[in-house]
Amino acid sequence: MLKILAFVIATSTAFQTSFAANDSEVRDYGEYLAGECSACHRDGANETIPPIVGYEVLAFIELMETYRNGERQNQAMVSVAKSLDKEQIKALAVYFASVKPKEN
Ligand code: HEC
Repeated sequence: MLKILAFVIATSTAFQTSFAANDSEVRDYGEYLAGECSACHRDGANETIPPIVGYEVLAFIELMETYRNGERQNQAMVSVAKSLDKEQIKALAVYFASVKPKEN
């Protein structure tokens, strides 16, 4: 939890330099795109669909990449991941990293 918090704080300064668009714009775009995800992914755990909040940005991008490169083959996620471009995945990563996981 602390690690996630520290990361969120770090990103608010670090991402200004590593991302072209400003932080809150990227996050807002991610929030908009996340509408598509929430039909399946809720904030809490569910038996078959894992929660996707609270991942660090790079970890999230790597997970999405596993569906794009065939490493993971879940049908729903492969088509979701392939419908997104790199900027969209980045924006989703920034948004979901900013959402705190619910304590179950
Ligand atoms: C049709 C339902 C559905 C939709 C819509 C969907 N997902 Fe998923 N997602 C799943 C399922 C099912 C899994 C578990 C798949 C597996 O076992 O690999 C998953 C897994 C994931 C994982 C890996 C999580 C982990 O801990 O391993 C990520 C990241 C993810 N989804 C992101 C997204 C994003 C971002 C969106 C929206 C752009 C999205 N998903 C939309 C069903 C969905």
